[in-house]
Amino acid sequence: MNTAILYHSIHHGNTKKAAGAMKEPLKADLFDIAKRPVGDLDRYDLDRYDLVGFGSGIYFMRHSSRLLRLAKGLKPTAGSPAGSPAGPTAGPTALKKAFIFSTRGLGPPFLYHIPLRRILKARGFVIIGEYSCKGIDTYGLLTVVGGINRYRPNQKDLEKAARFARQLGEQTDQRASQGGITPVSR
Ligand SMILES: Cc1cc2nc3c(=O)[nH]c(=O)nc-3n(C[C@H](O)[C@H](O)[C@H](O)COP(=O)(O)O)c2cc1C
Repeated sequence: MNTAILYHSIHHGNTKKAAGAMKEPLKADLFDIAKRPVGDLDRYDLDRYDLVGFGSGIYFMRHSSRLLRLAKGLKPTAGSPAGSPAGPTAGPTALKKAFIFSTRGLGPPFLYHIPLRRILKARGFVIIGEYSCKGIDTYGLLTVVGGINRYRPNQKDLEKAARFARQLGEQTDQRASQGGITPVSR
């Protein structure tokens, strides 16, 4: 199974650490989306991958605006609710499996993931799992107290991220041979 992980990590590199922990279990190619123009989607050549991970820190209760813009730029895959591939956008042409991840200061990841989840589903991605953990947050006044979640993500968070990735890989391989996919726990 070929996996790509697209991430955006701008505050403390927290999400980069989580993405790094997922890399090995999935033998994934990691892409830092800050390094390319957001519209340059063809460079990722997502058709090469069976599974695509999308992750960032949570900023103002959602994934980074850059990641959301990138996802919006993906054309609907054949058979997706939004219709058949068309228009000036780019991305994979066949239905793809995806997973979503994030790091956050506090609050409910299930809600924070809604905007990205909606965009990906509308483009025909099947979300097979979601992961989130806490990360050091020194935004705004939090600097005064030295931030919250210092030393997070910690070893335990990264082990959980790796375990999540391993399960995704096993599940996807298994389901591929059985012809179906079910969501894994968040
Ligand atoms: C501008 C800004 C806004 C943030 N908004 C939220 C938020 O709404 N909810 C939350 O739980 N964390 C929030 N955080 C904390 C980040 O999600 C957290 O520090 C995350 O781990 C950063 O990931 P990164 O280091 O990969 O960028 C915010 C941080 C910044 C800098």
